Amino acid sequence: MNSYPFLLNLHNILRWAVLLGGLYAITKSVLGIMHKRAYTKQENISHAVFVGLCHAQLLIGLILYFISPAVDEALANGMGAAMKVPELRFVAVEHISTMIIAIVLIQVGRSLSKKATDAMVKHRRAVIFFSIGMLLILSRIPWNKALWP
Ligand code: HEM
Repeated sequence: MNSYPFLLNLHNILRWAVLLGGLYAITKSVLGIMHKRAYTKQENISHAVFVGLCHAQLLIGLILYFISPAVDEALANGMGAAMKVPELRFVAVEHISTMIIAIVLIQVGRSLSKKATDAMVKHRRAVIFFSIGMLLILSRIPWNKALWP
């Protein structure tokens, strides 16, 4: 079986789960700050699910990077040549490096939020790191590709 189309479609669909999961996790904690609410199991689960979805997307993305014909094509004449062409640079470098940085920031935010004891600090750390991560993700999704497989 050729796993490339399957993984590419999964990666495409999972984008929406990541975006919705991020939006939900951030909204929960923004409301928590606004209403000075405790950090409950609900926030904890929404944050954990968001981070889990990011990790799944990262794993699939890493596999895709090694099996994708699009990446092969972008790198056909070497990294130096790819860097000179915006479309090739996007596929070979910008998408994956930005997404990895975003997911590391999201993971750091989750860890710092878990470490804090005060509910407001937990909410605040999550909101700050998750929001920066989400902005980075939104900035480097290939929106010119199909929105659904
Ligand atoms: C939350 C993070 C990410 C989102 C939302 C995301 C989203 C997407 C989307 C929508 C596509 C286009 C799929 C299609 O053409 O049907 C794509 C392609 C791709 N992504 Fe990601 N991605 C993420 C993270 C990553 C990471 C971390 C990597 C690598 C480590 C990666 C590697 C790739 C590759 C190699 C392709 C091109 C595959 C191809 O056209 O052959 N992605 N991504």
